[in-house]
Amino acid sequence: MINLNTRLQAVASLISDNSYIIDVGCDHALLSIYLVQTKKNIKVIASDINDNPLEIARENIKKYKLEKKIQVLKQDGIKNLDKAVDTIVISGMGGILISKILSDRQDLKNIKKIIVSPNNDFPIVRKTLMKLGFTIKDEKIILDRGKAYLVLKSVPGKKNYHDYFFGTLSNKSLETIYYYTNLLNTNTNILKSMPKKYILKRLKLKFQNKKIKKFLLTSPK
Ligand SMILES: C[S@@+](CC[C@H](N)C(=O)[O-])C[C@H]1O[C@@H](n2cnc3c(N)ncnc32)[C@H](O)[C@@H]1O
Repeated sequence: MINLNTRLQAVASLISDNSYIIDVGCDHALLSIYLVQTKKNIKVIASDINDNPLEIARENIKKYKLEKKIQVLKQDGIKNLDKAVDTIVISGMGGILISKILSDRQDLKNIKKIIVSPNNDFPIVRKTLMKLGFTIKDEKIILDRGKAYLVLKSVPGKKNYHDYFFGTLSNKSLETIYYYTNLLNTNTNILKSMPKKYILKRLKLKFQNKKIKKFLLTSPK
């Protein structure tokens, strides 16, 4: 079986048997390969916008003799989508790009599950999912090789919270504390070097830092 890092294993753990998945921005296709090897009765499309990753994806798929089980597709986001696809996975991209990919496609009525793992700008992703008629069912922070990653699972449904910054991550687990402490440090460093003229961007980061400090200082639930 293919060796998958902890972050992608966490993404895979949110995908069910009996699904038809598109792995958008598949890059090396390691996640697609792992899914076919570990889930029952699934179909997978490994898609990417760029030729180089797709070439590597094809090589990896061939190495594991899965050419018949994984369809490789070159396309931008999910502009073309087989109507039978019911699960969208987008991981390892910026939150703004993930939101754009999802919003560019108006018709998501056949989609039963969207799993995303944004590298940044996660409040925008939460907001976009809700705007598109999805509710966030599960979210977790994964620690992988010293870095913290957010993974979200959403299903069709009504908006379930208003705080796009924390979502349902109000529990002060070790992972959550690590994630938000890192973000606080990153924001603080960005603010140090960001020219004063970027008033709105600076305000946004300061607002985030205020929320994180409050979260870190309040006693555990
Ligand atoms: C950093 S890799 C992430 C790979 C993998 N999904 C993961 O989580 O490790 C991002 C991939 O997204 C692809 N990509 C960027 N924009 C895209 C778009 N609009 N549509 C499809 N793929 C895109 C890139 O070519 C790249 O292979």
